[in-house]
Amino acid sequence: MRATGLANNTALVDLAHRSHQIIVTHQHAGGAYPASPTFSAYAGYAWFRDGAFTAEGISRYGDVQSANRFHDWARDVLVDRRGRVADLLDQVEAGERPSHEQMLPTRFTLDGLDGSDPWWDFQTDGYGTWLWAVAAHADRHGQDLYRWLPGIEVAVDYLTAFWDLPCYDWWEEHVEQQHISTLGAIYGGLTAAAPYLDTIRAAATGQVAGSIRAKILSEGVQNSHLTKWIGVTTVDGSLPSCIVPFGVVAPGSPLAASTLDKIQQDLERDGGVHRFRADVFYGGGQWLLLAALLGWNHAAAGDSEKALHHLHWIAAQQTLEGALPEQVPTHLLAPGHRQEWLDKWGTVATPLLWSHGMYLILANELGLI
Ligand code: BGC
Repeated sequence: MRATGLANNTALVDLAHRSHQIIVTHQHAGGAYPASPTFSAYAGYAWFRDGAFTAEGISRYGDVQSANRFHDWARDVLVDRRGRVADLLDQVEAGERPSHEQMLPTRFTLDGLDGSDPWWDFQTDGYGTWLWAVAAHADRHGQDLYRWLPGIEVAVDYLTAFWDLPCYDWWEEHVEQQHISTLGAIYGGLTAAAPYLDTIRAAATGQVAGSIRAKILSEGVQNSHLTKWIGVTTVDGSLPSCIVPFGVVAPGSPLAASTLDKIQQDLERDGGVHRFRADVFYGGGQWLLLAALLGWNHAAAGDSEKALHHLHWIAAQQTLEGALPEQVPTHLLAPGHRQEWLDKWGTVATPLLWSHGMYLILANELGLI
């Protein structure tokens, strides 16, 4: 449901314009969206996960060309690795299990190369998120999806072969686990891509999507809510994505409602949302993009008042220049760990383009843009 009568809320709309401006100002000439242009550990790199959500925000804002350029970049990154994915599939065919080092990276240089700095690189969710985002964008603006099909096919082949492997999660942690939000992103991506694929790929995709959903529902639910990974009872702030946008769970269903309730209870305070209770990164602050994700889910479930509460909270976190950080140190979960990250990597990533992209999504969901 869309909120009405909000269009005059000038400050919120101004931040949407500012968000668009920040994102496009930093977009690389080749189309990549850098995660955070000046932050020490992210500078010079673009993630599929961050970029896909950022492109969704930009697409909803109506900047078709900027989103097209990002999707072109992502397609080219994948097409350049078509041979590498074919080799990986050959290994699987031969009964071998490729090492994590052989898998596709999580982040790329802005020129689309593998980076040379060590990173927590084996993460599959970003490829699923990209498939979902490119299909949503093409559909929204009547773009010809076949422009991106060569890259889509590489991502589909990769994900249908490797969806079931434990890997690092959205937060680049716990490589030994199967994370429900990762599985959700792959499900959402494969489902979105399926209608555009040849019959062989479409059949494989349908089968894998069915297996993912069955796995999540049988192994990723405890006490009537989704769980952070298989085998625990805790939640993660990324889990609402399994409802909206990835559609594993129907919005408004009992499982969706109790998952959102549990997240609100365990991770939300005053409109801000933590990643998970045990978070120590920068002391475990509240993340703007997760507040937007929760708000987006509330909007989809018809509760625009709660959604607006999250939008206001995000807007209140902007710097004097109108930049949105990754997280803010309100209600720190592990204050004793904050300084070690400040010493290691400096001030929290600001602006984080993903925060701005998610703000655009929620602002659009609420009818403000
Ligand atoms: C986060 C990731 C994110 C990356 C770039 C990391 O600190 O855990 O989710 O993709 O930063 O923004």
